[in-house]
Amino acid sequence: MTTEAIDLQELASSARRELEASDDEAALESWRIAYLGRKGKLTSVLRNLSELPLEERRRIGGEANRLKEELESALEAKRQALQQQRLAATVEAGWLDVTLPGRPKRIGRLHPITQTLREIESIFVSMGFSVIEGPEVESDYYNFEALLLSKDHPARDMQDTLYIDYRRDGEYPFMLRTHTSPNQVRYMEQHQPPVRIIVPGKCYRHEATDPTHEWMLTQVELLAVDEGISMADLKGTLFEFAKRMFGQERRARFRCDYFPYVEPGVDMAIDCFLCGGEGCRTCHHEGWIEIMGAGMVHPEILANMGYDTDRYTGFAAGMGIERICLLRHGVEDIRMFYANDVRFLEQF
Ligand code: DAH
Repeated sequence: MTTEAIDLQELASSARRELEASDDEAALESWRIAYLGRKGKLTSVLRNLSELPLEERRRIGGEANRLKEELESALEAKRQALQQQRLAATVEAGWLDVTLPGRPKRIGRLHPITQTLREIESIFVSMGFSVIEGPEVESDYYNFEALLLSKDHPARDMQDTLYIDYRRDGEYPFMLRTHTSPNQVRYMEQHQPPVRIIVPGKCYRHEATDPTHEWMLTQVELLAVDEGISMADLKGTLFEFAKRMFGQERRARFRCDYFPYVEPGVDMAIDCFLCGGEGCRTCHHEGWIEIMGAGMVHPEILANMGYDTDRYTGFAAGMGIERICLLRHGVEDIRMFYANDVRFLEQF
C-alpha cells in the first residue's frame, strides 16, 4: 500500500467525521474550503496525481474522484438537514400554526350602475347602435344653445346647473353637463347620416338631494338619423328596449312632453313591475313609471348640422340609469348608490 493511499483513507475518515460535527452554515463552509476548496486537501490530492506513476495514478485517481463525489453529496445532504432543523426551530419558536386557514381575499365587483349600464349598452349594440362618449365639462353652446335652449329660454330651469368658476364677458361659459344630449350635436357635427349612437355618461345637477334626487346621475342618450325615420321607429325601438330590459310582459306608453330639441316630444313610461299597473308606493299609485324623455329630432337642429331636412329625419331619447336601477332592484334611496357602503354594494 502506498503512502498516498493511506493518506486518502485518513483524509476520507477525517472529512466524514468533521462534516458530521459541523452544525451551522459557517462550519459547513469552512469544511468545504478545507476539503473541496481550490486549495483543499482532496483537491490537492487530485491536482498532484500527475506526479505519480501511471498504475498509482489510475487507482488513486479513481478513489479520489469517488471520494470527491461522495463528499459533495454528503455536504449537500448536510446543508438540507440543517435547513430543515432551522425551519423546525423557527416553527417551534414562533408557535406558527400552519393549519390555520388563510385570510380570505375580498373580491371586488361591478358597481350596480355599471352593471345596469352594460346591460343597456348590450341591448342597443345588438340593435346596431355604436357607443360614443363625450366630455363631462361642457360649454354653454353644446349643453344648451345648440339644443335650442337659448340664454333666456325658460326650459333652462328644468335643469339646475353647476357652472365652472370661470367668467368671460360677465358670463360663465362652462359647466358640468346637465345631460348627455349635447353629444347629439357633437356627433352630428362630425358625421353624416346614417347615425345610430348611444352616449352613456355622468351628468351633474345643482340639486338638493333626497331619496329620488342626486347631484350626480348617469344618463344614456340615444340618437338615430337616417332617411325615412319616423315616430314608429322611435316607438318600436324603445318598446323593444323596455321589454328586453324589464321583461317581455311589460307594457309601455308615450305621453306628450316638451323638450326644445325634439318635435314632437314624449316621455315614455312602463307599467309598474311591482304592482303590474294596479298602483303602489313605487309608482306613486299611478301604475306607470316614467323612464325617459324622447322625440323626433327638431329639424332646426338637423339643418344647423348641415343635414338635408327633406331627406333626413331622426329620433332621440335620454334616460337616467340610477332611476332604472333603483326601480329594478327596489332600492329605496338613490343616494345609496354613491354612499360607498360595501354592505349595500355587495348585494348586487
Ligand atoms: N336631456 C333630457 C333630460 O336630461 C332627456 C331627453 C329628453 C333626451 C328628450 C332626449 C330627448 O334626447 O329627445 O332630461
